[in-house]
Amino acid sequence: MVQFQGRFTPQLPVLASVIMYLATNARESQRIKHEMLMDKAQLDYGLTAEHLQLQRIVRDFATREIAPIAEKLDETGEFPLETIQKAGALGLMGIEVPEEYGGAELDTLAYALTMIEIARADVSHSTIISVNNSLFCHGILAFGTEEQKQRFLAPVASGTAIGAYSLTEPMSGSDAGNMSSRAELNDAGSHYIINGRKSWVTSGPVADYAVLFTMTDANKKQKGISAFIIDLQQDGCIRGKVEPKLGIRASATSELLFENYACPVENMLGTPGQGFQIAMTVLDAGRIGIAAQALGVAEAAYEASLSYARERHAFGQPIGSFQMIQHKVAEMKMRIEASRLLVFHAARAKMAAKEHGQRYTTVASIAKLHASETAMYVTDETLQIHGGMGYSKELPVERYYRDARITRIYEGTSEIQRMVIARNELGLR
Ligand code: CAA
Repeated sequence: MVQFQGRFTPQLPVLASVIMYLATNARESQRIKHEMLMDKAQLDYGLTAEHLQLQRIVRDFATREIAPIAEKLDETGEFPLETIQKAGALGLMGIEVPEEYGGAELDTLAYALTMIEIARADVSHSTIISVNNSLFCHGILAFGTEEQKQRFLAPVASGTAIGAYSLTEPMSGSDAGNMSSRAELNDAGSHYIINGRKSWVTSGPVADYAVLFTMTDANKKQKGISAFIIDLQQDGCIRGKVEPKLGIRASATSELLFENYACPVENMLGTPGQGFQIAMTVLDAGRIGIAAQALGVAEAAYEASLSYARERHAFGQPIGSFQMIQHKVAEMKMRIEASRLLVFHAARAKMAAKEHGQRYTTVASIAKLHASETAMYVTDETLQIHGGMGYSKELPVERYYRDARITRIYEGTSEIQRMVIARNELGLR
């Protein structure tokens, strides 16, 4: 059960804590650095030395702090507050947010690399970090006022508070524009009064703030949806049922109920009726994070397959010497490398979009679709290669399989990604 309900205490400045962290773990870091720099393939992706350094720091952090607790968290479903706070201290909760708003001011490739490394250790952690970064911070950075950035973005990006994103409702998931919740302007014109039920809110039980989408003018359908920044500890917001899930069990997911919640007009994000466009813009960024997360869990499973195929013997030889296993290895590797190229391509497209203003919807959807289906393929084949041991809770293989499954569902199902890609290609809606 989720135990935390409150705001974070302030953390050390990001740079100081990174330096301290590296100094403390210098020898182990050196080993990991050597290992990663030896992997020449990394350099071929056009990553800079800074990207590789960040990747090393995050892998080091994930290996030491997250991987050892992943199994226990999966069992208990406890929210990993302590390690999320540490991630915040390392600057991982607002990776692309400018320093003036509490972020690390890095680029989208840095964000993707972080997601890959965290998900290799634990998909639950990467889900919490992803929603905080792309669904909460990105929206406020792109559409918020200066006051909103100072008040809401800075604490969440610096990791002293947690952010959530609330679009889905019990009766509207893929058809996101068809919502029943309502926000009505009060007579004084000072507050929107929000009523309704939102569902499947990642970090809902623990978050401090959420970007919420609700109808301000139902007659206008999608164009009547507005976005609000919500203080989840204010009266009128009730944290509802916590979802018992198949995977990502340490990532707390719940309903949010709104009963005459009074939201000050200045907390509207963007303009009245702009909510659906904001929701979609933010999801474009989010889908790159989920693609990177899917790649991370696929990598973890694939490496488990390689080790097992070398060590496990059958009929007098390592099972990796059988063609049927080799076929699986080749197929997994090919799909993983294709996903990696698509993730980096989408990240670069987002970086270019920042400069030139165009959308990167299609490449984000392609990356998410391919990487999430790869994650399912690889975790399934990994389980198969491990046989009975893959089905046992003694190894993390069955957890990879369960955790990977969500990547084909949240932030737009595979079916929705195909629809988005095809509509954009055909120029149809
Ligand atoms: N960026 C900016 N604007 C966009 C956009 C984008 N990527 N996609 C659509 N829009 C705009 C369109 O231009 C259009 O505006 P105009 O009328 O002014 O041109 C408007 O939005 C409506 O677009 P559509 O007609 O295409 O909308 P639609 O209702 O047919 O469907 C959809 C769009 C793509 C299917 C969309 O509903 C969708 O993505 N659904 C999936 C929702 C989803 O991903 N939910 C996950 C929620 S988050 C989550 O998983 C929980 C969590 O915490 C992790």
